[in-house]
Amino acid sequence: MSVLVLYSSTEGQAKKVAEQVAKHAEAAGHAVAIYNMGSDAKVPRIASFDVVIAAASVHQGHHQDSALTFIAAQAGELDLKKSAFISVSLSAAMADGKAEAQAYVDRFLDATGWKPHMCLLAAGAIRLSSYDYFERQVMKYIVMQKGVARDMDVDYECTDWPELEAFVETVLDAGTKVGVQAAGRSIDKANA
Ligand SMILES: Cc1cc2nc3c(=O)[nH]c(=O)nc-3n(C[C@H](O)[C@H](O)[C@H](O)COP(=O)(O)O)c2cc1C
Repeated sequence: MSVLVLYSSTEGQAKKVAEQVAKHAEAAGHAVAIYNMGSDAKVPRIASFDVVIAAASVHQGHHQDSALTFIAAQAGELDLKKSAFISVSLSAAMADGKAEAQAYVDRFLDATGWKPHMCLLAAGAIRLSSYDYFERQVMKYIVMQKGVARDMDVDYECTDWPELEAFVETVLDAGTKVGVQAAGRSIDKANA
């Protein structure tokens, strides 16, 4: 199959997630293209792919504008494909944060009109060493309020890579099967 991996990333974690998705798909024998939705590069032709997996991350309650604009413009084409959305956030890393992480996704899908077959709420990263003053204050507040990390001078990567790999396999399996479940806003079992 041919697989298109799309991403928008502000500090790099959703990009890293997209690169891992591409790596897993390639290792499984698929032809993979990767595209940064925040770039000026030539927009890929969605119709020429079998499966599309998009990753974007959350900042102050919203996924990147670049993801919103790109996906909204391509929603009609995307809905004709087997497609999946990976939402990267810190809320997804918290035991009591899943509802919030899901609300970001619901808002994004409502705004874009896209109906991916599967979604993954993926835990992101905390890169305190690379934030500017404003970002550092926002993240310190989140981290201290939610108790996600103890040491405020250390970077944390919360992403569950085996969970991501399992999700990609599920998406690719669905892509190879006829009569995959109806499009919707369902959350994959990996999030249960
Ligand atoms: C300024 C700032 C605001 C953030 N706001 C949220 C938020 O509202 N909800 C959340 O779950 N995570 C939030 N995060 C955490 C990011 O989603 C997480 O760090 C993610 O890994 C960033 O992905 P990226 O590296 O692809 O940009 C925020 C991070 C920063 C730096």
